Amino acid sequence: MASGAYCRPGEAIVILTGAGISRESGLATFRDADGIWKKVRLEDVATPEGFARDPDRVHEFYNQRRRELQSPHIRPNAAHLALAELDQRWPGDFLLVTQNIDDLHERAGSRRLVHMHGELLKATCQSCQAVFPWTTDLQRATPCPSCARTGYLRPHIVWFGECPFHLDEIGDALARCRLFVSIGTSGNVYPAAGFVEVARRQARARTVELNLEPSQGASRFDEAVYGPATEVVPAFCRSLLASLEAGH
Ligand code: APR
Repeated sequence: MASGAYCRPGEAIVILTGAGISRESGLATFRDADGIWKKVRLEDVATPEGFARDPDRVHEFYNQRRRELQSPHIRPNAAHLALAELDQRWPGDFLLVTQNIDDLHERAGSRRLVHMHGELLKATCQSCQAVFPWTTDLQRATPCPSCARTGYLRPHIVWFGECPFHLDEIGDALARCRLFVSIGTSGNVYPAAGFVEVARRQARARTVELNLEPSQGASRFDEAVYGPATEVVPAFCRSLLASLEAGH
């Protein structure tokens, strides 16, 4: 597929990623057969109600994932690196919107990046609203570094029923993009699953799905390439960058 034909140099690109892009780095997805929601109920660990009911359990769930993310064998893969190179070399507007809470896009070198579901390596205080980088375990008794109150710190992560971050910036980018690419997401969770429609309707963008298998929203895309992200994403980025050299 000549993806370069979809987007001329200087035109705007929006890319959405989900858990599938981090799968080959060793991080589990949510809804695959070995996914996180097959092992723990999201109602218990990814909702404000679950946190109010049992904060210790929620802290331990994220403490385990925070420790795992920082273990030496968890590193950005070829898909993260290809997107970072595209970010650095694409002359037009470019926004990478990730649903992921891991920091693998940053570690790969992505800069024009927003985490719409928050970040595992940050914490926020529900009393003073401060947000902090956070790499160690969080407990109910951990005092807020800013207001010193205990019992108010939580992972800086958007739970089900809460409003995702950066929606204004994302909406503006979708309304102006010429190419929208969805990578490694099942298309189960809104508003991210609806971004393809916004790009089509508001910007008349070309839409491409890069995934291991057809997502819930597969029929809404103009084009699709199925396969492991570490294979299909670098190939797609190479063809986009080749269009820069060819000037078309
Ligand atoms: N390469 C490409 N795609 C892959 C790979 C891979 N190696 N492995 C799995 N996938 C695909 C799966 O086929 C699936 O379509 O990645 C997708 C992962 O889907 P989910 O597990 O539903 O993850 P995601 O779409 O990111 O979930 C969205 O739901 O639970 C919430 O907040 C959480 O951000 C998350 C949101």
